[in-house]
Amino acid sequence: MKKKIIGVILATAMFATLLTGCGGSSSETTANTDNAATEEAEQTEDAAPAEEAADAADAAADAAGGDLADKKVGVCIYQFSDNFMTLFRTELENYLIEQGFSKENITIADGQNDQATQSGQIDNFIADQVDVLIINPVNSSSAETITDKVVEAGIPLVYINREPDASEEQRWADNGWNVTYVGCDARQSGTMQGEMIVDLGLEAVDFNGDGKVQYIMVEGDPENVDAQYRTEFSVKALTDAGWEVECLSDQVGNWQQDQAQSIVANALGQYGNDIEVVFCNNDAMALGALQAIEAAGRTVGTDIYLVGVDALSEALEDVIAGTMTGTVFNDHFSQSHSAADAAIRFLNGEGNEYYIGCDYVKATQANAQEILDMVK
Ligand code: GAL
Repeated sequence: MKKKIIGVILATAMFATLLTGCGGSSSETTANTDNAATEEAEQTEDAAPAEEAADAADAAADAAGGDLADKKVGVCIYQFSDNFMTLFRTELENYLIEQGFSKENITIADGQNDQATQSGQIDNFIADQVDVLIINPVNSSSAETITDKVVEAGIPLVYINREPDASEEQRWADNGWNVTYVGCDARQSGTMQGEMIVDLGLEAVDFNGDGKVQYIMVEGDPENVDAQYRTEFSVKALTDAGWEVECLSDQVGNWQQDQAQSIVANALGQYGNDIEVVFCNNDAMALGALQAIEAAGRTVGTDIYLVGVDALSEALEDVIAGTMTGTVFNDHFSQSHSAADAAIRFLNGEGNEYYIGCDYVKATQANAQEILDMVK
C-alpha cells in the first residue's frame, strides 16, 4: 500500500537544479558540483518507483533459489541517534526480512558518529564472513579505505545516504567491483526548499521591505554532501528567481535539534526581526529552530519562514499546523528498498549501476497530510 502511494507521489515530483550558497561552504560545494552534475542524468534514468524495484527484488530472490534466509547481512549506520537514519534502518531491516532474509542474520551496527568505531565494526563483519555489506559511512572520505578492504574480502558493498566522491565511484566502475551507492541528489532537496520560499512571493517574504531576503542557514555536518548541496541550492533557488539575498548567519548544527535550537536562539538574539527566513538542512534542526523561534516570540508564517528536509512526522504536523513553512520528503522507503534490492542483486550474481538514485518530494500544507498518512 505504502509503496503504491509513494509511486504516485514520485511520479508528480519535479526535478530541478541550480547553484550557490552563503559564506563558508561555497568552496566545498564547488568541488562536488561537477560530480553531481554528471550523476544527475544517471539519477533521472535510474529512479524507479519503489513498486518496480520491489518486483525486481522478488525476481532476484526467486532466481537466487530462495536461499536469502541463509545469507548474512552486515549494516553499518553512522549514528543510531540520527532521526532520519532511524527511519531508514528500521525500514531497511523490515524490508530485508520481507524479502526473505532472517532477522538473526541481519546485524546493524551503530558507528556512534566515529569513523574508527565504524571501521572496527566493518573489520568484524569481514571476520564474520558476512555475505553482503550495506554501509552508511561516518566520513564519506573514508570510502576508499573501506571499499579496498571490503572488496579484498570478496564481499559486495552497498553504500547508502553519504555519497563517496566521484573519483571513488569511478574506481568501482573501472575495476568492475560489486560496489554501488544508493541515495537521493541533495541538490534537488535544496532547490525545493528554496522554491517553497519563492512560491510565497517576495512581498510576503520581505517583511522589512528592503527589497532583499535576509536569511540564516543551519547546516548539517560540513563533510556531508547533503549539507553542502542543500546549503547551496536552497539559496540559489531564490537568486535564480531574481531575488536579492543576504546571509546573516551560516552555522553547523550537525543535523541535531539541540544544536540548531541554540544556534537559532543566538541568531535571533543578534539579528532579531531582520531574520526573514530560516533554512535548516534537515527537519531535526528545523524542529530545534522552531523551539527557538517560538521562544523569541516570533510566529512562522506571520513574521518569519522556516523550512527543513526529511518530512519527519513531527515536522509534517508542524507544516499542517502552519508552524513550519515546508519540508522535503526524503524517501527512506525508496532508498532502503533500493539498497536491499541492490544487495540481493549482488547476492544473485547480478551487477548494479554504480549510482542508484531517487527523488525528493516537496511537502507543503497542500500535501503534508497525505505524506504523513504514508510515513506513519
Ligand atoms: C540526510 C538527512 C539528515 C541526516 C543525514 C545523515 O539525508 O536529511 O537528516 O540523516 O542524511 O547523513
